[in-house]
Amino acid sequence: MSQSTHSTTGTTGTTGSSEQQRWTEVDRYFSELLAPADDALAAALRDSDAAGLPKIAVSPNQGKLLQLLAELRGARRILEFGTLGGYSSIWLGRALPAGGRLDTLEFSPAHAEVARTNIARAGLADRVKVHVGPALETLPRLAAEDTTPYDLVFIDADKANNPHYLEWALKLSRPGTLIIGDNVVRSGEVIDPAHTDDGVRGVRGFLDMLAEHPRVTATALQTVGSKGYDGFAMALVTE
Ligand code: SAH
Ligand code: DHB
Ligand code: MG
Repeated sequence: MSQSTHSTTGTTGTTGSSEQQRWTEVDRYFSELLAPADDALAAALRDSDAAGLPKIAVSPNQGKLLQLLAELRGARRILEFGTLGGYSSIWLGRALPAGGRLDTLEFSPAHAEVARTNIARAGLADRVKVHVGPALETLPRLAAEDTTPYDLVFIDADKANNPHYLEWALKLSRPGTLIIGDNVVRSGEVIDPAHTDDGVRGVRGFLDMLAEHPRVTATALQTVGSKGYDGFAMALVTE
């Protein structure tokens, strides 16, 4: 297949190309083996779907990666931008010890309601809190209530605001905090410095900040899988 017939049409990667089929099949193999769904995860996706939420949650093996990273970090406090139906929140919430806490920020009241049900069914209502509203309005309140820094931050909401989200993540972090950004490839368009799309510009601004910030060391990886062609950025807050 030539480059000009690249298989993905967007971050959800739902083209029918054989390349996409292969990525999906391999993802299924890895996930069924290493990140199998249990009742709570399956129900979270099923009920998100039934409620008409977009099918843009992280894939199962990406969810497991988030859980592993939180476990590696020994995270007791996690911040998530973009809850959707709570699927990634369940994976992250499972990494928390008793007494740990995940604050997840969701603009849409409808999404948040679905997420709260999914999170409660997963037995995580005591440690996962869904906060409804635009993240940039919620954050100042959260920060005023509790100044304990977060150990891990997952940025996965509206990409145009990524630079603002990163600014808050850094404000609420400590040396050792891990910051993860989803969907940093934008179908490859992330390389265009003149792009006019707000999401592309937001992701580029976010990556520039990671590159330039004196307290941050970072990388970004392209991925393929059931969600098509995309990528993660990862940053460690130093000193
Ligand atoms: N992390 C989820 C997917 C999140 S999808 C998972 O992997 O399961 C992105 C979510 O961000 C959507 O639910 C959308 O409503 C939410 N969102 C968009 N703009 C937002 C904003 N300004 N503040 C908070 N959430 C926002
Ligand atoms: C979209 C958002 C996401 O967070 C994602 O993982 C995939 C797609 C979107 O808005 O299309
Ligand atoms: Mg995402």
